[in-house]
Amino acid sequence: MCGLIGYVGAQNAVPVLISGLKRLEYRGYDSAGVAVLKDGALDVLRCQGKLKNLEALVTSEALDGSPGIGHTRWATHGRPSDANAHPHVHDGVAIVHNGIIENHLALKAELSAAGHAFRSETDSELFAHLIADQLAQGLDLVSAVRAALSRVQGTYALAVLWDKAPDRIVVAKSASPLVLGRGSGENFVASDIPALLEHTRDVVFLEDGDLADIRRDGVTVFDAQGSEVTREARRVDWTPMMAEKGGHKHFMHKEIFEQPRAIADTIRSRASVEAGDLYLDGLDTDVLRGVDKVTVIACGTSYHAGLCGKCFIETLARLPVEVDLASEFRYRDPIVDARVLTVAISQSGETLDTLAALREAKSKGCPTAAICNVVGSAIPREANATIYTHAGPEIGVASTKCFTTQLAALYMLAVKLGRARGTLDEAKARELLSALRGAPKLMEKVLRQEKSVVKLARRYQQVGDCLFLGRGPQYPIALEGALKLKEISYVHAEGYAAGEMKHGPIALIDPSLPVFAIATQGPGYDKMLGNIEEVRARGGQVIAIGTEGDKRIGEIADHALYVPDCPPFVAPLLTVLPLQLFAYHVADLRGTDVDQPRNLAKSVTVE
Ligand code: AGP
Repeated sequence: MCGLIGYVGAQNAVPVLISGLKRLEYRGYDSAGVAVLKDGALDVLRCQGKLKNLEALVTSEALDGSPGIGHTRWATHGRPSDANAHPHVHDGVAIVHNGIIENHLALKAELSAAGHAFRSETDSELFAHLIADQLAQGLDLVSAVRAALSRVQGTYALAVLWDKAPDRIVVAKSASPLVLGRGSGENFVASDIPALLEHTRDVVFLEDGDLADIRRDGVTVFDAQGSEVTREARRVDWTPMMAEKGGHKHFMHKEIFEQPRAIADTIRSRASVEAGDLYLDGLDTDVLRGVDKVTVIACGTSYHAGLCGKCFIETLARLPVEVDLASEFRYRDPIVDARVLTVAISQSGETLDTLAALREAKSKGCPTAAICNVVGSAIPREANATIYTHAGPEIGVASTKCFTTQLAALYMLAVKLGRARGTLDEAKARELLSALRGAPKLMEKVLRQEKSVVKLARRYQQVGDCLFLGRGPQYPIALEGALKLKEISYVHAEGYAAGEMKHGPIALIDPSLPVFAIATQGPGYDKMLGNIEEVRARGGQVIAIGTEGDKRIGEIADHALYVPDCPPFVAPLLTVLPLQLFAYHVADLRGTDVDQPRNLAKSVTVE
């Protein structure tokens, strides 16, 4: 998830680009750059790090020119660096891109064989080369962009400058957002509304397949078939801060609702359903075949993801998995060696306990892998291989979209291990990947139940304690639901393996204690019904998370929320959603600082 902006008009584009990028930093902030046209020549400045580094650079270089394009990056391919920062340039063409080119390896090989030299590790740079090639064959800019796009599989919000077209920007959209801003004698384009509000409130959202030719005096929009179309103009009345949150009250709420897109992006970059296989760069199949155990090291929510991963890997790859709190693993002189694949899970990639545990595993000869959301952060830099999640920046301290994308990554790793070890045939792998690819639609359906969750949050907003129960892959979801509630609403909550109830927690049951029971149909369902009955028999209140259409759950629980029927390893991606929303709304009703809860940091880089 990156942010891009473009400007065509009489002003010096540079200040327009910089101030717009500031409004888009929530979309990515590991590197940034701008390109402007001046006297028929492209002038490009880019640099790694926060936007303030670029701001200082354009000031020291006294950059000016128009039109211009700018970009703030959240790396997906190629670590944060000056060379990987956008805009990318080739033969007078400058581009900025937000999205993923799925067939980037094949395209890069084809163009390299044709003599193209690439200066970055990114997939995005391909657009500059593809468009320049088309222009060299005499196509006009709009046709050249369209022809280049026809070679690409993936997602894009793209803006293109060409030094021989000094008064226009051509943009294109597919799956990644792009919005036009209409001015008087000037026009704008950006990834999101916040970048436009200081200039105009008249916006036009482009649709998938659209391509637009932006000039000072107007914008021409073409649909996927190349026909000129008119897209609806809208008037925006948001404040800039509201706009950064996309109209959501908190970043956490926005990020909860970004999960379907985040999962789709994470899968898209890795899974080939058709081939029943996965592209997990750096995880060599021979290495995967050679291990006889997996150890997962992580903290907090990432640890809960690891517990789910244990279920996936042990079932699909028949490999024993030990999941360890990184803070414990690192001090226990762990019994691991070259036959133990150690997987470090970390949203930030900077958690000190997890980094130290990874180093401990490496010192004992383990092959290591990371599952991480921040390209080029410390943990991926030190692991042998990395599966990057594509959740985009997660601003809320409480992790939501990074958790579910970690589950998707672990699911794909389990399939990859199963294929490498021969416990999964191609047909089964294809079936599993197809089920995972269907998850985003089912997640959207669950999120549409928010009103029912709000009712429950209102009912239980003053509780002092809460219990969460689950079995199998839903036990970690119970733990995660409890962590969400306690870390943002400050309500004490515990997650428990439901089978453990009779070994102690059942003493807690009383009418004042709400008990969430995750009882979707599948393995452990009947036992969960028994646990619900146990709680109800002792006067406890049960809020069940069940499978749509399951009447039994509604009969025995005090309240029930439902998720669509799905395979057991997709279910955790769905059942965690009502628990995230419950925690969010209880916290909001209690007036806590939802995005920055007391005592917490987004990344714990201390012991
Ligand atoms: C998650 O809601 C918490 N903020 C916290 O438990 C977090 O998951 C933990 O600190 C690990 O962070 P990491 O994933 O960045 O390593």
